[in-house]
Order: sequence, then structure tokens, then C-alpha cells
Amino acid sequence: MDVRSSVGGRGGGGGVGAGTSHGVLLLNSNGMDVVYTGDRITYKVIGGVLDLYFFPGPSPEGVMEQYTELIGRPTPMPYWSFGFHQCRYGYKNVADLERVVAGYAKAHIPLEVIWTDIDYMDAYKDFTLDPINFPVEKMKEFISSIHKNGQKYVLILDPGISVNETYGTYIRGMQADIFIKREGVPYLGVVWPGLVYFPDFLHPSSESYWGGEIKRFHDVLPFDGLWIDMNEVSNFITSPPLPSTLDNPPYKINNSGVHRPINNKTTPATSYHFGNISDYNAHNLYGLLEARATNTALVNATGKRPFILARSTFVSSGKHTAHWTGDNAATWDDLAYSIPAILNFGLFGIPMVGADICGFSQNTTEELCNRWIQLGAFYPFARDHSDNDTIRQELYLWDSVAASARKVLGLRYRLLPYLYTLMYEANRKGIPIARPLFFSFPEDTMTYNIYSQFLIGKGVMVTPVLKSGAQTMDAYFPSGNWFDLFNYSNSVSTASGMNVMLHAPPDHPHVHVREGNILAMQGEAMTTKAARRMPFELLVVVDGNGDSSGQVFLDDGEDVEMGGEGNKWTLVKFYCERTGNGVVIRSEVVNGEFALIEKWVIDKVTILGLREGTRMMRLKGHESNDVEATPGRRTVKTVGKSSDGGEFGIAEVSGLSLPLGKPFKLEVKLRQSYNRILSEKTVSM
Ligand code: NOJ
Repeated sequence: MDVRSSVGGRGGGGGVGAGTSHGVLLLNSNGMDVVYTGDRITYKVIGGVLDLYFFPGPSPEGVMEQYTELIGRPTPMPYWSFGFHQCRYGYKNVADLERVVAGYAKAHIPLEVIWTDIDYMDAYKDFTLDPINFPVEKMKEFISSIHKNGQKYVLILDPGISVNETYGTYIRGMQADIFIKREGVPYLGVVWPGLVYFPDFLHPSSESYWGGEIKRFHDVLPFDGLWIDMNEVSNFITSPPLPSTLDNPPYKINNSGVHRPINNKTTPATSYHFGNISDYNAHNLYGLLEARATNTALVNATGKRPFILARSTFVSSGKHTAHWTGDNAATWDDLAYSIPAILNFGLFGIPMVGADICGFSQNTTEELCNRWIQLGAFYPFARDHSDNDTIRQELYLWDSVAASARKVLGLRYRLLPYLYTLMYEANRKGIPIARPLFFSFPEDTMTYNIYSQFLIGKGVMVTPVLKSGAQTMDAYFPSGNWFDLFNYSNSVSTASGMNVMLHAPPDHPHVHVREGNILAMQGEAMTTKAARRMPFELLVVVDGNGDSSGQVFLDDGEDVEMGGEGNKWTLVKFYCERTGNGVVIRSEVVNGEFALIEKWVIDKVTILGLREGTRMMRLKGHESNDVEATPGRRTVKTVGKSSDGGEFGIAEVSGLSLPLGKPFKLEVKLRQSYNRILSEKTVSM
């Protein structure tokens, strides 16, 4: 990771009380050591300026809002990018890709995006296609057929441009004098294609050069997104140092964890960017600048909201790109490590982040892949990716993994409107999609050290299995009533937070929604496009006072801006309040017209958290929508064993047809009101 500055920090001593947060950012692109010893942090920086920023919070959301106001808010991601992605280094040819797409369809596992790694290229040259295995006509047919099915295609680009006099991209680069130089001539590195030059993204012509190459290639092959890899910059050689302090600085930072020379396997510190800027100073900005140029290029080439995935990032990369955590391994440790990794990147301002599901290097196993999809289905960015010398790991290859995938991706697709609304919140305020528990519970000091569980948004908590052979797992539940999203009848109740041992059979991951939330969900489907056409279900999780709230943001999912000028989007806020003998659920709508044109309706409202003994008596519609329920459309199942020994009712009102674009008020009268009775008790479920 090139992110050498830091943000975040929990209030502890020093006059900052529990529950308050602040952030600190050292904005400096030079090499540095950051030493953290528990009670202090030391920055040892070998150049540049010392720009220190403090963000007073005091809430975690406040810190993120202040930090991203400075560095840029996260770029919106297209709706489709929240679907499931399949990639592999080592797909052999077009037929191989077709088999993978067919394998997912046959197993009835949603597949949104199929990727190709460097295998598609002709001799690993960017913007070319292997004429034997990935011939252009076949690739075009393939892309056209997946597009017809509502699926997408993303390909990889590396920064190193092959030095080859017959290669257009190289020739045009030389003509534009675009490459990073050392001693006055383009710096010669080695990457997949052999000898390469690296485009200098500080060069004023780099945008038109890179954008021109992308546009040309897109005119040939209509890919939907770009994956920019190896942009640290990664180089297979280490060039000898020149006799200079830049190549051999007096203070040796801990490069690669083992004090390797500063030029180790990258562009040397004495290579130069436009304007005589040394790589010593600009090195860590390479991935950010490439992401910026690629984002502009994709907007120009497609006119749509770009999707870019970058390996190297820096402060403000989130303004341009998504990120994956790089080459992990198919190990249980790496499975566990992926949680703090994605949470960190959310805090850095890059909310669209995921780790390679089932592991990149080393052979995965059925059990590991099963547990990994159960976690990875809830990464903001969910992609299965593997190295070319490992066994295949598409999710349909094992029956147990396929069954898990259907279950967890089924829930992910039902949650798509929620995930996408969190993208909107991230784009507006910088708040991460995947969040540490302390985001919603800053007063609860027990949450501060938890990195084996996380929240999606403010109220959905993911508790994955991270150990081989585990049949149970220990989970922490902050205060409140929590309901199992796979089975609303299971719930955990705690007045002030408690540890719970959960049963973890191989097919059951744990995802809970907390009281106080209203989730707008849609039906399961094989693609996000099909899921978007399903009716909505409102899941209303009342709290002890009978209150809850939530919102949903809707647009076409690919406009460059999210919620920009014009009325091509709708925002609906939902509220549930307790009345004398029931609850009232109502909505407020901003720009309803878009949702009306799209004909989105709510056909079901499910109310969770009603206390034992409640019976629904009467259902009444108000205001602009008549929702008088006809008999047989409403049910109250008193189910739900609560961990405090009580029971919760689940009220389900189906057969509705409430247009999302119009405000509504739904009154549900209950025979017996309910009270919040919470007690501490450990329970196994
Ligand atoms: C390194 C990337 O991290 C990995 O994901 C990719 O498969 C290889 N490069 C090959 O392009």
C-alpha cells in the first residue's frame, strides 16, 4: 500500500472522552516510516512538506466528512459494480470465459461481471488482443452476448508500455514524449511484456495520450470497466543507484518490511517526471495520478459513470477509483486479515473495496472458499480472483460453496438498494460503506478493538467464520435487538452489549440487522439489472420505542454524477413511529418522478421487533396512496426466540402496491402494545 498518511484514531486520554473521535492526516508523498507504539505515533519522513491536518469529529462520521471534504469525496460507483465479479489470472481463451459464465448460470449463482487478466493481451501489450486465444471478433461476440444478458466485462491494464517500434501505443507515447525519464532518456524497466517505459501521469499531455489509447481500444472492444494493476510502480528489476542522495538517502526507510533500497523493484528515485519533479518526491502518487487519468478517459470513452479498480492508492484515490487489497493468499489468516484491510480503506476515503475472494495465491480449499464467499459477499466490492498456477476456484466448482454462494449472494442482491444508498452516503459525506463497529457505537468501548466483525451502513452487522473447522464462533453484539437476516425468527437482545456464542454450521453465515433501521430491499435475481426490476420489500425493525428510519437512493446507476442536477434520481426517507396501539410507517420523497417513471413499488412491508402478544388488527392507508389491505394479505407470525427468553412478532403485510415515488403512510394497529424488556443473557443460536 502506498498510503503513507493516516487518518482515524479513537479518543482516549488527553481530555478526549470515550465516544468522541478525531482524525489526523499527514499529507506527504515521500517515503516514510510510521511507527505506532500504542500510546503515540511517530512519522519519520524523508522529504517534502509537513502538512498535518486535524479533524475534530467528534463523531466518526464527522471525522470522515471533514477528511473527505479536504481530499475529495468518494467517486460514485455504477450500480452493476455491486454485483458479483469473477476473475482469474490464467483464463486461457474465449471458450474458457464462456464456460465460466455458463457455469455460473447453470449453478444459478449470480454473476455480474467477468474479467480478464493479462492473458487477453498480445504478448502482454496494453490495448492489444491475443490473436489466437482472444481474437477480436470472438471477443466482440462474447461481450455482446453477455451484455444482452445484463452482464459486464472488465479488463486489466498495466502502466508499463512495451518498447517496440511496431506498437502504436509505444510510437504515440514517444511522439508525445510521455514517458518518465532518467538521465534525460525514458527510463527502461521490465514488466510482463519485457522492456517497458512508464507513462508520466504528471505530464500535461498524459490525459490525452492515455485517454486516446483507452478510447481507441474501447472503440474496438466495448469493455465496461478498467482494472489498473502494477501501478506502485511495480518493476521486475532494480536499477543500480546513481551517486546521489536521492537514490541513496541517508535515512533508510523500512522499504518492503526489510529495509530494501529505496529503488527496489520500482522506478528509481532519480527518474524524473514533467516539470523536473523527481520520483523521490512523486513516487507514491503514481497510482493516484493513473486512476485520475483513467477515470477521465473512461468518462470520455463511454459517457457513463466509470468503474476503475486500482492496486496502488494514495490520499484522495477514492475520488477516482475502487480498490482491492492486492495479492492475498488462500489462507485462513488472509481471510481474517481482509476485514481490517477493507475497513482501513473505507477510513482512507475509498469505500468501494474488497479482497480477492477464496484467496489469490496458493490453492484454496472447499472449506476456505465456502467461508470466504460467506464473508466476501458482504465486502463492498465482491470479486473472486486467483493466480495462474493455482487450482480453479469459481464458486460453482464445489456443491457446498455453490449452495453458500446462492444463499449469501442472494442476500447481497436483495440488499443492493441498501448498498447503493450507502454509496450515495459515501459520495455525499465520505462515510464508508463497510464500517468498524465503533462507527455506530462510539460510546461502547468494547467495540473499539473488534476487527472480526463489521457493519454495512449503520445497522447491518456481518459476523463471519474465520477459523478452519469452526462449528461455533464468538460474536459481540452491541446494545439492542438484532435480527438474523437469513431467518427473521432468530434474534439477539442485549441492553448494553454482550458476547454471544453463535452456531456456525457450514451453510450459515451470520448477518444481523439492528433495531431502529428500515431497509429497502428487492428480490433476488441473477443480475443487478434483473434485481432492479423486482418489487421492493421494506424491512422495518422497530426499536424499543417503536421507532426506526432508513432511506433509499435511486437513479439509473450509470449517470456520471450521483444525485446531480436534474431530476433523474429519487431519494425516499422512511420513518416508523409508535402510535397509541400500533406503528405508523411513512415516507418522504425527494424528486419522486424518477421512481414513478421507473414504476418501482413496495409490495411487502415486514415489521420486526414487535413484542410477544402483539396482534395486527387493522391496516389503514392514508394520504396519497390507498393501501387499505384486503383480507388475507396481512399476517402476524409470533415467532422469533429472543435471547432474553421472550418472543418477537413478525408482521408481514404483502400484496401492496405502493409506488416508491409517492409519499405514503401506513398505519398498523396492534391489539397489544409492546414494551422493551431487555436483559443480559448469553444464548446459543
Ligand atoms: C498482480 C495483481 O495483483 C494480480 O491480481 C494479477 O493477477 C497479476 N498482477 C497478473 O496481472
